[in-house]
Amino acid sequence: MTKLEDIVSLCKRRGFIFPGSDVYGGFAGTWDFGPLGVMLKKNLMDAWWHYFVEMRDDMYGIDAAILMNPRTWEASGHTATFADPLVECKECKSRFRADKIAAGIAESVTTDEFLATHTKCPVCGKENWGPIRKFNMMFRTHVGAVLPEDTQDNPDLAAQNIAYLRPETAQGIFTNYKNVIDTIYPSLPFGLAQQGKAFRNEISPRDFILRDRECSQMEIEYFVAPDTWEANFEKMRASQHDFLEQVIGLPSDHIHEYDVPAEDRAHYSKRTIDFMFDYPGGEEELMGLAYRTDFDLSNIQRASGKSMEYRDKVTGATFIPHVIEPSIGVERLFLAVLSSAYTEEKVDGKDESRIILKLPENLAPYKFCVSPLLKNKPELVEKAREVYEKLRTKYTFVTWDDSGNIGKRYRKQDEIGTPKCVVIDFDTMTDDTVTVRDRDTAEQIRIEINKL
Ligand code: GAP
Repeated sequence: MTKLEDIVSLCKRRGFIFPGSDVYGGFAGTWDFGPLGVMLKKNLMDAWWHYFVEMRDDMYGIDAAILMNPRTWEASGHTATFADPLVECKECKSRFRADKIAAGIAESVTTDEFLATHTKCPVCGKENWGPIRKFNMMFRTHVGAVLPEDTQDNPDLAAQNIAYLRPETAQGIFTNYKNVIDTIYPSLPFGLAQQGKAFRNEISPRDFILRDRECSQMEIEYFVAPDTWEANFEKMRASQHDFLEQVIGLPSDHIHEYDVPAEDRAHYSKRTIDFMFDYPGGEEELMGLAYRTDFDLSNIQRASGKSMEYRDKVTGATFIPHVIEPSIGVERLFLAVLSSAYTEEKVDGKDESRIILKLPENLAPYKFCVSPLLKNKPELVEKAREVYEKLRTKYTFVTWDDSGNIGKRYRKQDEIGTPKCVVIDFDTMTDDTVTVRDRDTAEQIRIEINKL
């Protein structure tokens, strides 16, 4: 069984992921993607966009601003309810998310329910708790040249300057629904898809990139006629499985659906299925599929005074569409992919093992690695360069490696998931063939250059 430490170590060693602000000792809940990580992350995001937007006639893209008019978050209910249960240990002053340190309680836990669990403080071991209070997870900032300290005698003015970093990308979609309807006239059902950053002031960021304060989401708001929501929910559920299992290659037996009970659902949802994944540290939410009803559009209509109604092109009936929302965090998908691909194997006939990242070819940062067998033989290097340039005109993701010896290069390429290594040797100079080594089997075949 793969351990989370092994993946964290591989990520740092090979340049996939570094702790955010590493040089200053880090910054909790933030992570930076290195050269390899950027490529894998982009491949994941491109695969999602291709599957859900480019390959469908009923989906369109949106790229909305992160900073939004604060009325957005009043109307969406985030200002009032986007909060986690915070509890403070009166002995050591450590603060925790109550539902994460006590077993078997819901997010809506009350102080009495929490105290009845007799949970000990994970830091000092004492049992002396303050009351549970709701901690709003939105990051607040100030917009414009007037700072709060300038407006202490005018609290209204200070409040006017407050803005939030978006806690979900979804609201950038809902607030553009009317613009889209009035410009490209889509027929129901149709979806608007967006990829982008979301920010949450998590009380306890944890488990590597699973719970971050800054993450990237890929979300679709799929607008449907109210009486068709169940059928569309089922279709969306099937397409999520298809994407995760067929396009991304996650093992289906690692994905489990959890029908979230009403008391644990987000304030806007009438039904939610969490897609749970068997991560190295245990089962965790990978993504959510929610039926958001007309909650958001109706609230926007009320708050803005602008009609969010849709007029059916055939019947002329008008109504506010209902919404099905699949939402997935890129970091959680990234970790699911890495932990499924991470493999350690014994090397045949040797007392050593090799680490292989068995990434599907569509996700691997590099598809080919080209190298000369020896880097101090100019004729091999020149020929290898020729092959490298030739492959690069066909495939974007080809890498060059002439570091160390050939064995070390293979180990490195195995660890970063490169499916094929192409090696130019002395035979190449006479018969124009090269060795192609397969990452997963370590088998080598000889092939003519023009057949690569
Ligand atoms: N618009 C709906 C929404 O935001 P959510 O369940 O709060 O729903 C959706 O978040 C997905 O975003 C989660 O399933 C997860 O993949 C990702 N996500 C949410 N919070 C996250 C965090 N703090 N760190 C990493 N990913 C997160």
